[in-house]
Amino acid sequence: MTAYENLLLDRDADGILTITFNRVTALNALNKVTLEELARAVGEATADPAVRALLLTGAGPKAFVAGADIAEFSLLDDSTAQTFARRGQYVLSLLENCPKPTLAAVNGFALGGGCELAMACHLRVAAENARFGQPEVNLGIIPGYGGTQRLTQLVGKGRALELMLTADMVNAADALRYGLVNHVVAPEQLIEFSKTLLKKILTKAPLAVRHVIDSVNAVADEKRDGYAAEAENFAYCCASEDFVEGPKAFLEKRPAHFTGK
Ligand code: COA
Repeated sequence: MTAYENLLLDRDADGILTITFNRVTALNALNKVTLEELARAVGEATADPAVRALLLTGAGPKAFVAGADIAEFSLLDDSTAQTFARRGQYVLSLLENCPKPTLAAVNGFALGGGCELAMACHLRVAAENARFGQPEVNLGIIPGYGGTQRLTQLVGKGRALELMLTADMVNAADALRYGLVNHVVAPEQLIEFSKTLLKKILTKAPLAVRHVIDSVNAVADEKRDGYAAEAENFAYCCASEDFVEGPKAFLEKRPAHFTGK
C-alpha cells in the first residue's frame, strides 16, 4: 500500500482495515489532502479482496474528526464552493456505497464534516466521550458533505433541524437516544467492540451483506425504485452458491461456510 500523509492504515488478520485520521494537532480536521487520501484509501480497499470491512477512527484522545479544515475552506467563494461540497459528498458516498461494511468508531469530537463522515458509514459506535454536532451556522455556512440529508434520515426532521439550527453538540448518550449512533461503549472498549460487530457481519453471506447495503441505500436515491432494487437484489442472491450453502447448513445443523459466490 502507498504511504499516506494524514491517514494510518492497518489491516488485521480478519481483513478489517482500520483507517485512522491522523492530524492530531488540528483535531484530525479534514483538509483537502486528507479528503483525497480518504478517497484513495476507500477506493483501494473496495478493490482489494483481502479487505473485508472498513473501520474509521481518529488519532489522539480528543477527536474523531473535528470538521472540514476551517482554515482551508474559509478561502472558498461562490465559484469554488459547489465543487468543494460536491467533491466531499462524492468521497463520503464511497463509504456509503462501499459493498463491504463500513463503521465509524467515534472516539471524541465528530463535528461538521466529521459528523457527516460518521453518518456516511453504515454503522457508528461512539465512545462515551464522543460529541456530535453540525456547527456550520456558527461560521455562516451550512453542512455541505451530505449532512442536511443524512442527519435528517438518521434522526428525523425535527431533531435534525434543531441540531443544525442551534449548532448544539450532543453527547454520546443523546446520540444513541436520537438514533445517530448504534452503540455507546467505554473509550477503552471502542475498537474491540467495533471489530466484534464487524466480525459478526463477516460471518454472514458476503453477497447478501452487499445487497442489503445496496437495497437500503436505494431508500435515499431518488433515481431508484427501492422496492424494485430490493426484488432484483433478492433474486441475485437467490441465484448464488451461498444460497445453496445457507439452507443446507441450517438443515444439517452446522455453521454455514459462505464463499461470496
Ligand atoms: N479546522 C481546522 N482546525 C481545527 C478545527 C477545524 N475544523 N477544529 C479544531 N482545529 C484546530 C484548532 O484551530 C486548534 O489549532 P491550534 O492549536 O493551532 O490553535 C487545534 O485544532 C485544537 O483545537 P482547540 O479549539 O484549541 O481545542 P478545544 O478543545 O479548545 O476545542 C473544539 C475543541 C472541537 C470544540 C473546537 O476546536 C472547535 O470548535 N472546532 C471547530 C469545530 C467546527 O466548527 N467544525 C465544523 C467545521 S464546518
